[in-house]
Amino acid sequence: MALQNLAVGYRSPLLIKAIRDISRKGLLQFFHDLWREYGDLVRVQIGSNVLYLVIHPDYVQHINVTQRAKYAKTDTYEGLRRLLLGNGLVTSEGALWRRQRRLLAPFFTPRSIEQFLPIFIDEAQRTRKRWEQLAAHGEPIEMIGEMMTLTARIVLRTLFSLSDESEMRDTAQDVGYLLNFVTQLQLQPLQAPLWLPTARNRAYRQALARVNAFIGQLIAKRRALPVEAYPNDLLSKLMLARDEETGEAIPDALIRDEAMTIYFAGHETTARALAFAWYALAAEPEVTAKLHAEIDRTLGLGEPTVETLKQMPYTLQVLKETLRLYPSAPIYGRDAVEDDEIGGVPIKRGASLSLVPFCTHRHPEFWDDPLRFDPERFTPEREAARHPYAFHPFAAGQRICIGNNFSLLEMHVLLSMLAAQFAPRRQPGHQLELELFGTLGSRTGAWMQIVPR
Ligand code: HEM
Repeated sequence: MALQNLAVGYRSPLLIKAIRDISRKGLLQFFHDLWREYGDLVRVQIGSNVLYLVIHPDYVQHINVTQRAKYAKTDTYEGLRRLLLGNGLVTSEGALWRRQRRLLAPFFTPRSIEQFLPIFIDEAQRTRKRWEQLAAHGEPIEMIGEMMTLTARIVLRTLFSLSDESEMRDTAQDVGYLLNFVTQLQLQPLQAPLWLPTARNRAYRQALARVNAFIGQLIAKRRALPVEAYPNDLLSKLMLARDEETGEAIPDALIRDEAMTIYFAGHETTARALAFAWYALAAEPEVTAKLHAEIDRTLGLGEPTVETLKQMPYTLQVLKETLRLYPSAPIYGRDAVEDDEIGGVPIKRGASLSLVPFCTHRHPEFWDDPLRFDPERFTPEREAARHPYAFHPFAAGQRICIGNNFSLLEMHVLLSMLAAQFAPRRQPGHQLELELFGTLGSRTGAWMQIVPR
């Protein structure tokens, strides 16, 4: 009787068969094809493990907003919590999460993040110089890596006010290694356990120890200064934050976790979105012409202010359309903490759910001709007419990405300043092969050539 109520979907009694099915097409395509075959809520059973893929905007709203108390991050983010992020905002839950979110929210309001505009502009200028040289030599570059270096520099400056080049390089390298290690571990469960002294496990522990020591030293150095001499960056804000009710400061271990979380959540997602924006634009001469016209009219080769950016709505539409077709976080997870029902399907307490913006954003009921790259979808009128949860690149509800304004401002500045001068082309013959690497990546990278306009 209950069976009739279950969402239909994929079932594999054997892990090994599921691994074969998934590795044939990659996890993202596998999920996408299940959606096309079974619909907007798909039950995936592998052995005795059950996972639901959630695609319909109504269900996105149900989990994130209307029935949010029934869903939490319990098992889903445990690996990430244990291996890297500790109890920072992405991985914490309950009262701790609520307190931290309340403390950190003021750092990320549109008004607060304007203070970082000079850093975004400075890094765009630096990249302009680098791209002038690259254009002169005609060498192809891998755009995701290129954007990753750029956004890592930005996060190191906004978080820690780093300026020493070798310190930036070393820290970025260690964090890059850790991100990669954790991603690999999550995507390939059949790996040597952490306690085995393999070279990879040792390198992970050493990189983690170096990063922890580095943040610990930064905190200690600041504590030796009078408060007025603290640099005006996110680390200082974390150190100076006080709970409204109790007056308590954030303990050092949690400051470390929040700093690591901002680094982790903030730079890779933004880098990937920017890289995919370049890649998409290179195949869209009409969109590119409209983008260039807007930039030439407002910014030229100058440096934007908040006012100039407001006069460049189309550039922002290009970024939103990029996040629709190429959501940097193509999947995010929740666990049911109470029994529930979604669209008539009973969801048992303890069930895992994966919300899949990658599929919601390609849903033909909500997006005409969904595979076409068309920034006109994001005019204010068309945005207002759409289901409010058909677009959820930053998740939704109370756990919506705290850095969404930060990343949109950062990308707005970088895309407009670089597109003012350059029109990167795709490397002939190169094809993206989208895949989930924790965030959205491409198995073949994103090879492009920097070309002046
Ligand atoms: C294009 C860029 C970005 C995308 C697509 C993105 C996407 C997301 C998504 C989907 C979540 C929800 C994850 C979940 O609940 O499972 C999230 C959470 C979060 N993001 Fe972002 N993010 C971006 C940029 C940033 C930046 C720049 C920062 C910080 C400077 C940041 C910091 C965070 C934090 C701290 C959370 C956890 C919020 C909470 O649970 O209270 N993100 N992000």
